Amino acid sequence: MADATQRYALVTGANKGTGFEICRQLASKGVVVVLAARDEKRVIEAREKLKELDNVVFHQLDVVDPASVAAVFEFIKSKFGRLDILVNNAGIRGVEVDGDVSVLQEYIEADNVSFLAGGQAEPFHVKASGKLIETLKGVDECVETNYYGAKRVTEALIPLLQLSHSPRIVNVSSTLGCLVLQPNEWVKRVLSSKGRLTEERVDEVVQQFLNNFCCDKIGHTSNFKEGKLEEKQWPPHLAAYKVLKAALNAYTWLAAQKYPNICINAVCPGFARTDITFNAGPLSEVEAVEAPVKMALLPYGGPSGSFLHRSDALSLTF
Ligand SMILES: NC(=O)c1ccc[n+]([C@@H]2O[C@H](COP(=O)([O-])OP(=O)(O)OC[C@H]3O[C@@H](n4cnc5c(N)ncnc54)[C@H](OP(=O)(O)O)[C@@H]3O)[C@@H](O)[C@H]2O)c1
Repeated sequence: MADATQRYALVTGANKGTGFEICRQLASKGVVVVLAARDEKRVIEAREKLKELDNVVFHQLDVVDPASVAAVFEFIKSKFGRLDILVNNAGIRGVEVDGDVSVLQEYIEADNVSFLAGGQAEPFHVKASGKLIETLKGVDECVETNYYGAKRVTEALIPLLQLSHSPRIVNVSSTLGCLVLQPNEWVKRVLSSKGRLTEERVDEVVQQFLNNFCCDKIGHTSNFKEGKLEEKQWPPHLAAYKVLKAALNAYTWLAAQKYPNICINAVCPGFARTDITFNAGPLSEVEAVEAPVKMALLPYGGPSGSFLHRSDALSLTF
């Protein structure tokens, strides 16, 4: 049962990529970590890779499945009695690629340039022959995983986090969710007007995006094309990923207001070589998790409600 001096963490989507590495690094710093993954077989594979660490325990968790979330709550409650750190890491890109996958890297790099230019970058032309394909199924999964999944796990585990003397939540988000990359002025206004922001308003943005997407795509698997998506100025590529990470950042701020005793932040790990990026990007998994791990171990009194880029997180002095 719970040891008052021990810290307990749960990391979602942790069978590979940044989630796996966050578990490994937290465990090597003495935290008892629940490595959670949606697929039992992948849980076993992860267990095999970390067998030398006796402070990692394993549990199935599909963040889109409320019964699975309830089961992980019961597991942590009965095994540790509380939770100190929750890392909402599970995520999908919500887009597939037809042809040369380096097209994804080109778009991400162009978005990073645009972000640095405050959203004012020059129009850019893709060189790779591949095409990004956003299907209704992929977008629906992205909505359920990247936004509602993180919300569902957070809300279920709040009672266990409230029993910690120094609780913290890290939402693994993305620069691509920054509002400068949102062409839709209504979305920018709703998500940036902190004084009037509510969970219902964030959900409204998500549902509006989904409705417009459904209008255009029912029966189609083609790429972004003329219709509601264009008329309403949703992002022309990686739309679901950008909208849902923007929603996650807004939810992070709201949750921090609602639970002032919990340190809750969203952080971008940086562009890293994992499956979600088809292993493109300048950062290794080990480098990418530096920022999320730092945010997970922030001492009491650190920032809360923020979205931080990797470099901002790494330059925090606490
Ligand atoms: N890599 C980057 O450049 C980058 C940049 C910014 C943000 N991020 C964010 O970092 C997080 C981790 O991504 P990654 O780079 O490590 O990619 P990854 O290697 O593809 O890992 C994604 C993880 O999420 C899991 N997952 C997906 N849907 C899930 C669900 N319904 N329930 C539970 N787990 C689920 C995957 O499990 P399966 O193996 O079962 O699919 C996998 O373990 C994501 O939130 C991503 O948006 C990554």
